Amino acid sequence: MNSPDSSADDMLSLARLHEQCLDDSIFSLMGTGALATYYRFVTRSDRESLFLIRDEGTIIGAAVLSTSPHDMSGRLFRRYGLALSGPLIKGLVGSATFRTRFFKHLIAKDSTPAALALLPEIVQIFVHPDHRNQQIGSRLLNDAEGWLRVGGVNRYYIKTHNVGEQNQALPFYESRGFSRAGESTFAGELYVYFVKEIS
Ligand SMILES: CC(C)(COP(=O)(O)OP(=O)(O)OC[C@H]1O[C@@H](n2cnc3c(N)ncnc32)[C@H](O)[C@@H]1OP(=O)(O)O)[C@@H](O)C(=O)NCCC(=O)NCCS
Repeated sequence: MNSPDSSADDMLSLARLHEQCLDDSIFSLMGTGALATYYRFVTRSDRESLFLIRDEGTIIGAAVLSTSPHDMSGRLFRRYGLALSGPLIKGLVGSATFRTRFFKHLIAKDSTPAALALLPEIVQIFVHPDHRNQQIGSRLLNDAEGWLRVGGVNRYYIKTHNVGEQNQALPFYESRGFSRAGESTFAGELYVYFVKEIS
């Protein structure tokens, strides 16, 4: 279900919320414009779905579900390479952190555990800091699961690379019925994979 009411303003709000909530994501390092392009791609894709929660019209939580996560970056860059080239060059020239991470991602091989390889993935989920622990994240997962159920899918996964004690995602996934499905290193970072059966 791609959000039919998402506008250009929404893309910008989403980009800003993503930057705020996932400040170490590679897209956040590319800036708001690149993120807005990413969300434009998501809303127009037939393999990605965007789930939004609003409070009086303002987006306070979002999740992106991909039914084809393994080739998502390739599809994004094939479709929006030109629009992303400016932020990419700016990032490569201006930030050593971005440069290192970008090249690591470029040469890294997909390391998704084989058991999960063909399953849909929640590739992003985030909630505005002022609205956390109010069941917004749970509602986003429920919406994504409802959509998967309609399509006859009964398993999906999610991964996280920030495994520090301050990571709110770990207790969140565990309390929402996910179980650990393995760990692997991608682009020099350790990822923990969680899988969930839905009925
Ligand atoms: C992870 C995240 C999406 C959860 O959203 P949320 O709206 O706060 O989650 P909910 O309110 O629906 O669920 C909270 C549940 O998660 C658990 N939880 C969430 N934060 C927790 C924390 N800091 N400590 C312990 N448990 C926590 C609780 O068990 C709670 O369950 P309960 O309601 O039964 O008590 C949100 O914290 C977030 O945006 N974090 C920053 C971005 C991020 O890390 N995204 C995931 C990247 S992999």
